[in-house]
Amino acid sequence: MSPSPTASPRRALLAGVGGYLPRRIVTNDELALKLDTSDEWIRERTGIRARHIAEGEETAAFMGARAAEAALAAAGAGAREVDAIILATSTPDHAFPSTAVEVQALLGITRGFAFDVAAACSGFIYALAVAEGMIRAGQAEGVLVIGSEVYSRILDWSDRRTCVLFGDGAGAVFLHATREETGGRGVLSTHIHADGRHRDILYVDGAVGRRERPGHLRMDGQAVFRQAVTLLAAAVDEALAAHGLGREAVDWLVPHQANRRIIDAMGRRLGLPPERVVVTIDHHANTSAASIPLALAEAVGDGRIRPGDLVLMEALGGGLTWGSALVRM
Ligand code: UT7
Repeated sequence: MSPSPTASPRRALLAGVGGYLPRRIVTNDELALKLDTSDEWIRERTGIRARHIAEGEETAAFMGARAAEAALAAAGAGAREVDAIILATSTPDHAFPSTAVEVQALLGITRGFAFDVAAACSGFIYALAVAEGMIRAGQAEGVLVIGSEVYSRILDWSDRRTCVLFGDGAGAVFLHATREETGGRGVLSTHIHADGRHRDILYVDGAVGRRERPGHLRMDGQAVFRQAVTLLAAAVDEALAAHGLGREAVDWLVPHQANRRIIDAMGRRLGLPPERVVVTIDHHANTSAASIPLALAEAVGDGRIRPGDLVLMEALGGGLTWGSALVRM
């Protein structure tokens, strides 16, 4: 006898995705006017050509709210269907309240709960993991998962080794509870990791809890690069092994956008042709926790990623933190 629908496990369906990018675009050539760098160096080492930089009212809360509205619209859902907002950021508007409650207020939502997740560039994968766990546990039906970052405000604009790498923006997904048999769609699994021994190769050297605030981003790029290639490969393998899937099962790789060379290495590991790897680093640069939902929004928006496709996401960031997620769209 087949189990009744109400007895089957719950799953988080990715019902809609949206993004917001600041209006101002800054090219490599524009940076080279003020720094000892060049368009050629930045493109060859990273794949970046330009980035969006926030201005005026474009804070993490403002951009997160715009991305959330786009995700809800794509899902055909209204603000009253949102039980929870989980927002990943390292650049909150305030130490508290959380940027998530700022977004809640901007969306006019007065019920449910909202909180931030701090996991640097892995923040979206972490927030997705928390959200899908809460949906599976029956603690929420509709959850907005947002990554929103204004790294331009924590960069040392005199340090060419870091300031050319990042951009600002926000991306969001709206997750809704479903039952597992609905065509196998939804978040299949998430896999998150941290190893604080590596906390000094990528960090911000200040915060409101320290004297030397507000702080700037510092990175040993080569050390992070070496860790990324190894740890992300393991996270990709872990996601597939969790479901007994071969790499040929994956339709799309939607990776964190830190370096084109890392993205290409992960695509090769999965045996994916380049056109099955979503790349936005050329025009977004590294938007930290926003990079995966922004890339997803672009590829769903232009019709590349379609319902039923199997999407593998992976990210690594300060901490170190890293992880992966498998989603049937
Ligand atoms: O999102 C979180 C995770 N982050 C990452 O995964 C980032 C991982 N790391 C990287 O992507 C790369 O290590 C970087 C893009 C950050 C750097 O690329 P690299 O190939 O590792 O370059 P490098 O740091 O070894 O620097 C090579 C040279 C150095 O000059 P010398 O010492 O060889 O004379 C740098 O000073 O390039 C120089 N350099 C620059 N030159 C022009 C560094 N930054 C620049 C620049 N313009 N912007």
